[in-house]
Amino acid sequence: MNILVIGGGGFIGSHLSEEILNRHSDWYLTSIDIDSQKVSHLLGNKNFNFVSLDILKESVEEHVKRCDVVLPLAAIANPATYVTDPLRVFELDFEANLRIVKLAVKHNKRLIFPSTSEVYGMCTDVDGFDEEASNCVTGPICKQRWIYSTSKQLLDRVIYAYGDRLNYTLFRPFNWIGPRLDNIESAGHSRVVTKFLSDILRGRNLVLVNGGQQQRCFTYISDGIDALIKILENENKCAERKIFNIGNPNNELSIRSLAEKILYMARNYRSLQKHLDGVSIVEMDSADYYGGSYQDVTRRIPSIRRAKECLGWEPIVGIDDLLQRTMDFYFKW
Ligand code: UGA
Repeated sequence: MNILVIGGGGFIGSHLSEEILNRHSDWYLTSIDIDSQKVSHLLGNKNFNFVSLDILKESVEEHVKRCDVVLPLAAIANPATYVTDPLRVFELDFEANLRIVKLAVKHNKRLIFPSTSEVYGMCTDVDGFDEEASNCVTGPICKQRWIYSTSKQLLDRVIYAYGDRLNYTLFRPFNWIGPRLDNIESAGHSRVVTKFLSDILRGRNLVLVNGGQQQRCFTYISDGIDALIKILENENKCAERKIFNIGNPNNELSIRSLAEKILYMARNYRSLQKHLDGVSIVEMDSADYYGGSYQDVTRRIPSIRRAKECLGWEPIVGIDDLLQRTMDFYFKW
């Protein structure tokens, strides 16, 4: 099988590429990105072809024509950017990806598309968000945080609307975490786990936005990648024209508990001792932290019934193990 991963140099793309090459010697991978740093260890593999290309500037049509299945993973998925640069999010996450979706339709290629847990927005279903029954709830236009959610949601709707004309699978990652998620050496915002690790490295306080009572279900990257491999394998067409939540409902944690856990675990690393002295946990209003156009998700639990039934998948890495493995990657002992 010839697989095209667009945005293959990112967090999910790099882990997926690694696993594809490990598990399937008869699968060939073309990876498109502007940066090959996260896949530099794969560059010598004979089944791996890295193409340096900016999808905002150049067409990927020739590559789509040559593949059997395309995964367009290139997107900005960092909440701080949703509020500071919403149009950049729209241009990459929506416009550039819509062009790829249309190419998949035109050339009759299978499409595996990353939707997001964020499409459910402020949905209040407490028993788990269901792909076919839960509402997608976003806020007013002035709350720009929702530009990512709504860009993704509209693409989901477009893909779904193609119906019989497009062989698709939509997957929705729920806070996938692991090595290579974000660069913790650089200043600025990133996803919460890597932000806390970066704060510790700089001897800065961990900030709980709006008190830290909001909850997330964190999912280890290897569990997410297992699901993606099953979707790619598509045994008996089990993944076709379906939407799957891919998350770990057992790993639900408040952001306050997350901060406490990470700070506690960080004390085991000798290399961090000198940084930890001045670090404590503080609270900040979201308007001060992100700006006034931010709005938060209080609780987000995936229903993974469909992924269990159709793919035979369930996550196995618990929250402590997930944090340990991630911290081991970023910190020296
Ligand atoms: C994330 C991002 O939108 C995407 O990475 C992705 O599509 C999706 O959700 C997902 O991975 O499922 P969110 O979970 O809100 O959104 O992103 P984080 O930046 O990791 O924030 C989680 C929570 O921690 C938020 O409530 C945020 O306000 C809080 N936070 C973040 C803090 O309390 N302190 C910080 O320093 C950073």
